[in-house]
Amino acid sequence: MSEKELARLAIKARNFSYSPYSGCKVGAALLSSSGKVFTGCNIENSSFSATVCAERTAFFKALSEGEKEFKMIAVAGGRSDNIEGEFPPCGVCRQVMAEFCSSEFVIILATGKDSYKKYFLSELLPQAFSPGYLK
Ligand code: THU
Repeated sequence: MSEKELARLAIKARNFSYSPYSGCKVGAALLSSSGKVFTGCNIENSSFSATVCAERTAFFKALSEGEKEFKMIAVAGGRSDNIEGEFPPCGVCRQVMAEFCSSEFVIILATGKDSYKKYFLSELLPQAFSPGYLK
């Protein structure tokens, strides 16, 4: 599974976004170390606070099916039907990534239909608070 293929799956996952309040359609595609892909979308709620981001939907799907190690996630979002730039993961999603992924975990942010930018978790969440601090 290439970075580009994962980015395309993230764009596709936007189709299931439930986002009547923000109008932001977000999709994510998470590649586990075992080679499986778990997709997710954002699911909003009239209470607002019960909204779940696309990234966490993908992570929780994977974790709840026994996956424990992850290589890379692709994220695509925005208000427009087309991807018109990065839609970066929120702080809560970055923290969830830090719980289960190493600093070399790759985050692909789609910037267009066939373009993306690549980051490491260490760049998007420097000095992460992680399980090691509770040992
Ligand atoms: N959203 C995501 O799905 N992922 C993020 O990391 C940032 C925010 C969603 C949540 C909400 O439905 C909409 O984007 C606007 O915040």
